[in-house]
Amino acid sequence: MRIIDFAPEHLEQVVRLCEREGWTTFTQARELTLRALLAPGVVALIAAGEGGEVIGFAYALSDGVIQAYLACLVVAAGARRRGVGRGLLEQALARSGARRIDLLSAEPSAAFYASFPHQQARGYRIALGPS
Ligand SMILES: CC(C)(COP(=O)(O)OP(=O)(O)OC[C@H]1O[C@@H](n2cnc3c(N)ncnc32)[C@H](O)[C@@H]1OP(=O)(O)O)[C@@H](O)C(=O)NCCC(=O)NCCS
Repeated sequence: MRIIDFAPEHLEQVVRLCEREGWTTFTQARELTLRALLAPGVVALIAAGEGGEVIGFAYALSDGVIQAYLACLVVAAGARRRGVGRGLLEQALARSGARRIDLLSAEPSAAFYASFPHQQARGYRIALGPS
């Protein structure tokens, strides 16, 4: 497994990984998704399997110094519990330049995030308009 920077040729596989989780935001407009993933301050990484296929994806937003936010993390169902998610999160934080990374977590991934050193706090996701 290799963790490398996201590039436009990974887009379709990333969209499909997200769709399998029921996440359709990236599906709606490919060109906007690409702009988001290549925007300044964004760290977008993929985990590539033996054949170069995308088995995981993470993207974070960072000020480059102190604070980063994890916007998305997903590992293909057949590649879980092998350290791919941990590798992606650790690399996203390291490459962001930030000291810490915050995130919103849904219940099924609670055990994963709790496996890192962390403090837990309540959060909100505000969307003024479509999210
Ligand atoms: C959450 C997710 C990214 C974890 O990826 P992963 O590659 O399986 O995670 P890792 O193998 O790096 O796990 C690291 C540690 O987290 C914990 N962990 C991970 N998944 C777990 C689970 N399902 N149940 C309990 N503990 C879990 C374990 O402590 C694990 O270490 P171990 O395997 O040595 O016991 C993956 O399950 C996933 O993509 N889920 C669906 C999408 C999702 O929920 N994303 C997060 C949205 S907020």
